[in-house]
Amino acid sequence: MAKTGKPVIQVKDLYKIYRVGDTKVRALNGVDFTIYKGEFCSIVGTSGSGKSTLLNMLAGLEKPTKGEIVIAGEHMEKKKENQLVKFRREHIGFIFQSFNLMATMNAVENVALPLTFQGVKKAQRMKKAEALLDMVGLKKYKKHKPTQMSGGQQQRVGVARALVVEPEIVFADEPTGNLDSNTSEEVMRLMQKVVREKNQTLVMVTHDNHLASFADRIFHIKDGKIVKIEDNTGKRTGEDSPAGEAGGDEKTRADGPAGEAGGNEKPGEDSPAGEAGGNEKLWADGPVGEIGGDAQERSEKKEDGAQGAAGNGGAD
Ligand SMILES: Nc1ncnc2c1ncn2[C@@H]1O[C@H](COP(=O)(O)OP(=O)(O)OP(=O)(O)O)[C@@H](O)[C@H]1O
Ligand SMILES: [Mg+2]
Repeated sequence: MAKTGKPVIQVKDLYKIYRVGDTKVRALNGVDFTIYKGEFCSIVGTSGSGKSTLLNMLAGLEKPTKGEIVIAGEHMEKKKENQLVKFRREHIGFIFQSFNLMATMNAVENVALPLTFQGVKKAQRMKKAEALLDMVGLKKYKKHKPTQMSGGQQQRVGVARALVVEPEIVFADEPTGNLDSNTSEEVMRLMQKVVREKNQTLVMVTHDNHLASFADRIFHIKDGKIVKIEDNTGKRTGEDSPAGEAGGDEKTRADGPAGEAGGNEKPGEDSPAGEAGGNEKLWADGPVGEIGGDAQERSEKKEDGAQGAAGNGGAD
């Protein structure tokens, strides 16, 4: 997967220097790299090393002091704010540490939110959002509000929301920062899987070496510099085994009453019998897209002002 695709993110001689009083903080101090389509890259480093600064810069949330960022062929550093907003909407999904879900909306409404910005009709929005929730194993939690879900479930809603628009690129800043280690692993596997299936590009920032090891390549950042780029293909953690060898080599993931880490849904309950030994038990339940009457029912409900409230919680 790595390096066979075309370049999708190119960073050249990137600097970000903050001035605080009389002192200068070199948050990014000359960064160069290329990320290819379909890659999962992690950026790992200690607190203050420049991870979030880098990610924010890639996403066009902050302007570099110097240097170039080319994403999907376009120079981010040359774009105006309104162009950046549009670009993000069209190309980029975000997964945040703090979930950033809208408290007044249930799971399906949260996931559907980014689609409102794209002008997708309500029935279609709900249908897509439900399909994504099915995929992340939250079939039974569609109508739950954030406060009625566990941290892992909320984060999975966050993942679903980032992916609903099928962005070319997904940025995640400490996406499991608020989760316990079991749940973190499950979220990592989920991201690994969905990104792989859709050949999306995922860039994840973390301070955790173990979580970083789920990626194809690991970029080590220190004092605003990339000090090492590690090719991790072949030794990735959590890699799904190819279809067919659905045997038991995924043991580390399915620990006892599976699913308890992320939530209460019963794995396997709605999956076709026969693939029971398989890999995707915790998440993939049943064919994605078999949206029942729910979507219909909901689409007849009134809009609830989501449009207006959306600004803070959406993709931007
Ligand atoms: N707006 C700002 N003004 C001044 N300094 C900043 C600003 N944002 C970040 N910095 C500094 O830049 C450096 C890198 O910060 P950054 O947030 O990128 O670190 P990080 O690697 O994401 O850390 P963490 O793991 O704690 O989130 C730090 O020294 C930080 O203090
Ligand atoms: Mg940070």
